[in-house]
Amino acid sequence: MHKIALNFEDGVTRFIDATADETVADAAYRQGINIPLDCRDGACGTCKCFAEAGRYDLGQEYIEDALSEEEAEQGYVLTCQMRAQSDCVVRIPASSQVCKTEQSSYQASISAVRQLSDSTIALSIKGEALSRLAFLPGQYVNLGVPGSEQTRAYSFSSLQKDGEVSFLIRNVPGGLMSSFLTGLAKAGDSMTLAGPLGSFYLREIRRPLLLLAGGTGLAPFTAMLEKIAEEGSEHPLHLIYGVTNDFDLVELDRLQSFAERIANFSFSACVANPESQHPLKGYVTQHIEPCHLNEGDVDVYLCGPPPMVEAVSQYIREQGITPANFYYEKFAAAAA
Ligand SMILES: Cc1cc2nc3c(=O)[nH]c(=O)nc-3n(C[C@H](O)[C@H](O)[C@H](O)COP(=O)(O)OP(=O)(O)OC[C@H]3O[C@@H](n4cnc5c(N)ncnc54)[C@H](O)[C@@H]3O)c2cc1C
Ligand code: FES
Repeated sequence: MHKIALNFEDGVTRFIDATADETVADAAYRQGINIPLDCRDGACGTCKCFAEAGRYDLGQEYIEDALSEEEAEQGYVLTCQMRAQSDCVVRIPASSQVCKTEQSSYQASISAVRQLSDSTIALSIKGEALSRLAFLPGQYVNLGVPGSEQTRAYSFSSLQKDGEVSFLIRNVPGGLMSSFLTGLAKAGDSMTLAGPLGSFYLREIRRPLLLLAGGTGLAPFTAMLEKIAEEGSEHPLHLIYGVTNDFDLVELDRLQSFAERIANFSFSACVANPESQHPLKGYVTQHIEPCHLNEGDVDVYLCGPPPMVEAVSQYIREQGITPANFYYEKFAAAAA
């Protein structure tokens, strides 16, 4: 049995189980998810999707009009013909609503809430329901703010282990979630989560990776690194983690422990404030070296507050280098 992540156009992800004998479309329908489908015969192309990761058999029965050789080489599949040979990630060109599914909700309670520094909070939540929560490292959930009807988006900063997941949260003075977490929150408090969501997740590592984090934009990378620590990587991975002030720098021990556990992983951390006591000063872009961009044969992952994501994207464009893949996540404020 393989796990297939179906990523819908609206950012919702649902996981289904598929045996090696059934098509991905049959597995989805068996589990109540109506992905686009018409002839079921490999003739119409209605079920064409993009396989982001995994090994699979495309089938022999479809016609060129439905899926061309070139499309198959690029990673397109017909889900009415595709049979999984490993866990896979499939992008569905339709919204979750059209496919008669929606994001899942979970109830859990706070297992730990800790102020790592004046600006940063570590939150862990735990619950039996969460042991069924599957997500791709790098994705996020909407967390309900207790005592209000509002939700805030947070990237998982860890994998799910024994029904527990963690987050790394910036303390925005006067912010709704920030005020709850720094004032009222205590172990045992209930929280609701809805998700997982998002297209910022770790793809198969096929070339060197450059990971660029701004502030708590580090969160999705620590989840990705947990996964990479389990599976290893043949390719070099370099993380540059930039913050504004010395007190924003957190989780350095954890990054160091990843560097010890993952053979090809290295990182640097820099602080923008010129008065910083940290040895490496400046912005993330000042510490990108030509070898990190590898003449474009690199997958870049970038996450942080919107101005940082825009500045770094522009810097990379100005270098005249087009990375093989460029994925980013902006931590946009809900209340902006
Ligand atoms: C996909 C996604 C993933 C995210 N993941 C994370 C994460 O892992 N960690 C994390 O810390 N945040 C993350 N965020 C941001 C997060 O969702 C909240 O916006 C943030 O935590 C502020 O929430 P709040 O309730 O404390 O403040 P709010 O009540 O939403 O805001 C209060 C005031 O502060 C302003 N404000 C909000 N955020 C900022 C900011 N960053 N800088 C300056 N002013 C701000 C607002 O405009 C508003 O005026 C993510 C956002 C998105 C869209
Ligand atoms: S449904 Fe027609 S090709 Fe798959």
